[in-house]
Amino acid sequence: MQAVEIVEVAPRDGFQAVKPFIPTERKIAIIEELAACGVRRLEIGSFVSPKAVPQLADTGEVLARAKLPVGLRLQALVPNAKGLELARKAGVAEVAWVISVSESHNRANVNRSVEESFRAFEEAWGALGPDRPKLRFGLSTCFDCPWEGRIPEAAVIRCVERAIAAAPELEIGICDTTGRAAPDHVGSLFARLIAGYASQAVTFAFHGHDTYGLGVANAIEAFRQGVRVIDGAAGGLGGCPFAPGAAGNTASEDLVFAFEHMGISTGIRFDKLLDAAQHTAAVAPEQAGGKLRSVPRARALSGFAAASRGVAA
Ligand code: COA
Ligand code: ZN
Repeated sequence: MQAVEIVEVAPRDGFQAVKPFIPTERKIAIIEELAACGVRRLEIGSFVSPKAVPQLADTGEVLARAKLPVGLRLQALVPNAKGLELARKAGVAEVAWVISVSESHNRANVNRSVEESFRAFEEAWGALGPDRPKLRFGLSTCFDCPWEGRIPEAAVIRCVERAIAAAPELEIGICDTTGRAAPDHVGSLFARLIAGYASQAVTFAFHGHDTYGLGVANAIEAFRQGVRVIDGAAGGLGGCPFAPGAAGNTASEDLVFAFEHMGISTGIRFDKLLDAAQHTAAVAPEQAGGKLRSVPRARALSGFAAASRGVAA
């Protein structure tokens, strides 16, 4: 049976987009509930400047206090060497280091030029020993930038080559930060990336937003091209505070429904995820998204069961 890994990013991309501070206890309760759905990897927060993203200033505490299943992989986003150091001190085994392809978004997001960010990454990563954390190298604005518009594939490829040169073993997260990519664009970029760079050491993930309703279609196209790791946020929460016009991440429950419906296993309990997605969305209902939460529950579940039976038969 084919399989795909849905990485749950609501605790980072979802929560960071919410203005009023979500009490640490509430974050922990949601994370524990999401983890209990069978999620295999979760982005638990970020180690960034608390002035830039006050909402996630408690990531260290969340990490220390959440009771999570053994074997659940946790990753935390970092934007610089200080974030890497804090993440390591907190015991994070996997970091998601983020740089944007577009100059304007990188400046808005991390207050550096792309060149400065790459130099900082090369220096910090090069200084690590064999006990280094696992790396997700997150490339923002791979398709579209709020200020620069459509991003040329050649610009993404230059960044991918530079990341691989600095860190030969990594997962590269190709991000549609604004949600403006369409499936043909997702397909053509991944076709080039996978043919040119994928190996045992270099793998690709897709991180999409659902601003224009294309999140699930884009994820399926990424899968068709060979991507086997896809980010989603329960309840469709999410959005980069430094990318005006971007809505939430593609909802995890929509992704799980779509993939399982096509006979592609996610390992996630859909019924439990629907509950967890409601609780996640309740943090900021006006910002939440996704489709499956608004389908009457019995119908969503029966459609899902029928699809799964079809596959098993
Ligand atoms: N974690 C916590 N504090 C940090 C930090 C980190 N990763 N990086 C820098 N800081 C602190 C510095 O110690 C310094 O503190 P001080 O004022 O008490 O001396 C202060 O922040 C300024 O440091 P500086 O290196 O000048 O940062 P900056 O103001 O140029 O901001 C970033 C750069 C990268 C730290 C900031 O833009 C950032 O955190 N961006 C992340 C944005 C994000 O999370 N976006 C969404 C995800 S894509
Ligand atoms: Zn995002």
